Amino acid sequence: MAIRPRWRPGDPRPDIRSMVRVDQAGEYGATRIYAGQLAVLGSRHPAARVIARMQSQEERHLRHFDEMVVDRGVRPTLVQPFWNVAGHALGAATALLGPSAAMACTAAVETEIDKHYEDQVRSLGVDDPDLAGTIREFQAEELEHRDTAIAAGAEETFGYPILSGLIRAGCRAAIELSKRI
Ligand SMILES: [Fe+2]
Ligand SMILES: [Fe+2]
Repeated sequence: MAIRPRWRPGDPRPDIRSMVRVDQAGEYGATRIYAGQLAVLGSRHPAARVIARMQSQEERHLRHFDEMVVDRGVRPTLVQPFWNVAGHALGAATALLGPSAAMACTAAVETEIDKHYEDQVRSLGVDDPDLAGTIREFQAEELEHRDTAIAAGAEETFGYPILSGLIRAGCRAAIELSKRI
């Protein structure tokens, strides 16, 4: 098996395996966040219908990256169990604060995911149109989720700037972790 150079911070060469790894992890995390929110809010809450629709899109994103991981022989991230637990906990905790906090969580997460996907597409350039096309398609849906969450009152959450800042920092840390291990 060929030895591939490891991704390093500041390395301009797009490491496509690392990209697929972190994207699969992120989409998995997204399904866990929404699952945590739905576990708290239940299916009859008015916000649940909106969340369930976003959840089904995340499941489609995840299936696609699961297939890419298999097809391309990419090792999934070792921090998958972290995404499982932390994603669900984040979703549940924000939903316990109330539906608008759940939406604040979505707005924060999707803001970071949009930036992350934008960075990836830029660093891919003309490389790997299959992956770049997938990312563009999903990025558009993540932006819809962000806008849906804001329209549903995300910014009216008590302490919104702090909550949003914390969640965004957590997302960035989780993304960096999954790129590397
Ligand atoms: Fe997604
Ligand atoms: Fe999303």
